[in-house]
Amino acid sequence: MIIHSKLPHTETSIFAVMSALAKRYNAINLSQGFPDFAVSKELIDLVHHYMLKGYNQYAPMPGVPELLEAISAKVQKLYKTKLDPDTNITITAGATQALFTAITAFVQTGDEVIVFEPAYDSYVPAIKLNGGHPKYVSLSAPDFHIDWQKVKDLITSKTKMIIINTPNNPGGFVFSKTDMIQLAEITNQTNIVVLSDEVYEHIIFDGLQHQSALKFDELFQRTIAVYSFGKTFHATGWKTGFVTGPADLMSEFRKVHQFNVFSVNTPIQYALADYLENPENYLNLPEFYQTKRDYFVTNLKGSRFKVLPAHGTYFQLLDYSDISNMPEIEFASWLTKEKGVAAIPVSAFYHDKKNQYLLRFAFPKENETLLKATEILRKI
Ligand SMILES: Cc1ncc(COP(=O)(O)O)c(C=O)c1O
Repeated sequence: MIIHSKLPHTETSIFAVMSALAKRYNAINLSQGFPDFAVSKELIDLVHHYMLKGYNQYAPMPGVPELLEAISAKVQKLYKTKLDPDTNITITAGATQALFTAITAFVQTGDEVIVFEPAYDSYVPAIKLNGGHPKYVSLSAPDFHIDWQKVKDLITSKTKMIIINTPNNPGGFVFSKTDMIQLAEITNQTNIVVLSDEVYEHIIFDGLQHQSALKFDELFQRTIAVYSFGKTFHATGWKTGFVTGPADLMSEFRKVHQFNVFSVNTPIQYALADYLENPENYLNLPEFYQTKRDYFVTNLKGSRFKVLPAHGTYFQLLDYSDISNMPEIEFASWLTKEKGVAAIPVSAFYHDKKNQYLLRFAFPKENETLLKATEILRKI
């Protein structure tokens, strides 16, 4: 049988590759971005409670009303935007599904999509599977500054979508208010949909405020914003998230969503609705993760790795150019096999594998794990 692959150049993801390597060489795995500490017992008890209560059948397609209401209340409090639970929010099976569904709902054959690199790895395959063409804006370390004139110059009559991600994985940078205003200005009077990946909305440091697309009226009217309960509540394996958007965009999103997953885990949705009632459950995240970042960075003092600014997400970039001139993928592999610490080469987030001598380390880990890793890194 001849198979005409729809993604002929796609290989196993770098996250799977590095995690497998970490396992084989018994290395400390700071490659994949997931916490190694427990989900709140209160949240687990709530899921259990709703399962026992019999909430085990299909949820309504957009999500259970209690959770939609809870999200609407949270968004109003944080971003001062009024969302109608019936028409502006849809619960998804995590952010990756939300991103895929949004891209499928809007991108047609021949459309162009502007993607900032470094980029989360699911964006481009989703664009290509829908017949779209990615147009890249390559951002560079250490600050990943965006030249908005360059972005504007990329816009053509075929531009259907611009994808942004703030706080940014893997860059650790965040969009400023000025960035968002620039984005609003260059998309004004166009038919461009903005897809705003905000899965790390609550993981932002140094007193900075998350500049959600929902805060900007004009942007809100053209934006599908994507969120992940997996990231917020240390439960990446639950694959639960949500999207927000104006009613006309959300109606198109739901047309695809209903044939993609239809609806999402019922007891988890009820549990999340209750858990969201206490804002402490998400408002304490900046402090929690900033302490982890600082612990990791402080314990690296004296090392030859250079620490890049990390204002958000739970990733820290380290520059190893004072240690080696190996390309990133080789250095990451050497570090795992020979030294016992696994990280992700940042070049994996660029289509042209741009090499900046950078590795991404995930720090949502127990302090003991971080201490062991930094002891090794300091000696290199
Ligand atoms: C930027 C970004 N977007 C989306 C996702 C996917 O989130 P989820 O696990 O909810 O699918 C991730 C996960 O690493 C991410 O880093």
